[in-house]
Amino acid sequence: MTGRNNMIKASIFDLDGVLVDTAKYHFLAWKRLADQLGIYFTEKDNERLKGVSRLESLEIILDLGGLKIDNVQKIKYADLKNKWYLEYINEMTPDEILPGSLKFIYELKDAGIKTALGSASRNTPLILKRLGMNSLFDAVVDGNMVKRAKPDPEVFLVAARLMNIEPANCVVFEDAVAGVRAALNAGMLCVGVGSEEVLTEANVVISGLYEMNIWKLEEIG
Ligand code: BG6
Ligand code: MG
Repeated sequence: MTGRNNMIKASIFDLDGVLVDTAKYHFLAWKRLADQLGIYFTEKDNERLKGVSRLESLEIILDLGGLKIDNVQKIKYADLKNKWYLEYINEMTPDEILPGSLKFIYELKDAGIKTALGSASRNTPLILKRLGMNSLFDAVVDGNMVKRAKPDPEVFLVAARLMNIEPANCVVFEDAVAGVRAALNAGMLCVGVGSEEVLTEANVVISGLYEMNIWKLEEIG
């Protein structure tokens, strides 16, 4: 991967699992619904919901329980889960921003590298507000703005377009397998945030943004 130096002109961050650990709140809310439906749902099952849209997450849980319901009921359950999820989100504070995230984002800005957010979550605006990050990025693209979920590259391609940067000059930070694929499908570099065993397709994997700095980014590029 040498010879790409200086080609990174923009960084696109996933939200859940990269900038903030909301997976625990998603789990608690889905667990509450699963319990109500009599479906056995574990933290391990919750891994499969990472990066996946709200309705697709519900489908996975219903499959686990072998439950078949109509679309109207599905929307009702997804809304109920979201209501419970929002009870946690509404209590969030900037202290929950994952270590190193802000320092790295400001370092990028100082170096003239654009920054964007690309998330499947339709709660993105609220979460960014709770974290005090709502005017931090050059572009924010979320689940309210795109039609096709990751691994489709749409969310990242729209972010690149809004920043006016070619996909080949973008790097994505992602914690979900579907998100890594979306970044690669967009023709972007991808830094996996999590474990190497899971994020096997990422160009490089780090444990968290606290490991990142501008020099490391140049090495990746
Ligand atoms: C992703 C999460 O960022 O957003 C998924 O990793 C979640 O777990 C998806 O299902 C949709 O989130 P929301 O907030 O729109 O229900
Ligand atoms: Mg994520």
